[in-house]
Amino acid sequence: MQNRSKPTVAGSYYGSPAEKQVFLRKVFDDTASHYEAIAKWGWFGSGDWYRREALLRNGVTPNMRVLDVATGTGQVARALMKILDNADQIECVEPSAGMIEESKKTVPAIHHQSTAEVLPVESERFDFLTMGFALRHVDNLEDSFREFRRVLKDGGTALIMDVTVPKGAFPRFFFRAYFKYILPIASGILTWDKNVYLLMKYYWDSMDQMVDVDDVIRNLKLAGFSNVQHNTLLGCFSEYVAVR
Ligand SMILES: C[S@@+](CC[C@H](N)C(=O)[O-])C[C@H]1O[C@@H](n2cnc3c(N)ncnc32)[C@H](O)[C@@H]1O
Repeated sequence: MQNRSKPTVAGSYYGSPAEKQVFLRKVFDDTASHYEAIAKWGWFGSGDWYRREALLRNGVTPNMRVLDVATGTGQVARALMKILDNADQIECVEPSAGMIEESKKTVPAIHHQSTAEVLPVESERFDFLTMGFALRHVDNLEDSFREFRRVLKDGGTALIMDVTVPKGAFPRFFFRAYFKYILPIASGILTWDKNVYLLMKYYWDSMDQMVDVDDVIRNLKLAGFSNVQHNTLLGCFSEYVAVR
């Protein structure tokens, strides 16, 4: 069985799986200045509350040193800042320069420009590692999870949060109608930016072809993590927790 995540919707957005990261970097760079607002109203303001609650429930405590992977505009890092003693206990990894620029406006922490597959930080440095809403963007799950394990101290925890499309026919219908049609069209019109429309179209397509739960769990175990657990909340938030 291969360990690459599915080459999500390659045909319509990029020529081959090899071009996926180039596409992602460009689309996130192009839309970085709008991303924060769309993420906020697109999820009806629930995002900040959910992230903080998930961090606390999964064991983040004030004295920890934390690495946030796929920082984006800083949503998880800001939730961490509300829990940790100091913002300088956080380091961020994010490939898009545009997203880093936005994140730095509110997150006074070190930002490294890189992907989950190559974490430019020393080994066994962190007590906790987070990655929010980026599973479907990662090329190689096993390599990324090996990196996550490398940078965690013994006993350290990785928390990966993402979206799951609800299973029931009725909730799935509404979820699909909202994320496939309403959100891309509304955000495209409100920003009058075709790149935002493209990002939000990709957002749904990549969500619809999300990496399988079993695949994520298998790769976490292959990377050497123990106590690997998966929970789904409110039918649409997926959390993976694994201990080094
Ligand atoms: C939807 S945003 C999530 C931002 C934030 N973590 C949150 O909780 O909302 C996804 C981020 O993943 C980043 N990304 C894309 N490919 C990545 C990769 N291979 N490794 C790490 N991050 C990646 C994108 O640049 C983007 O900023």
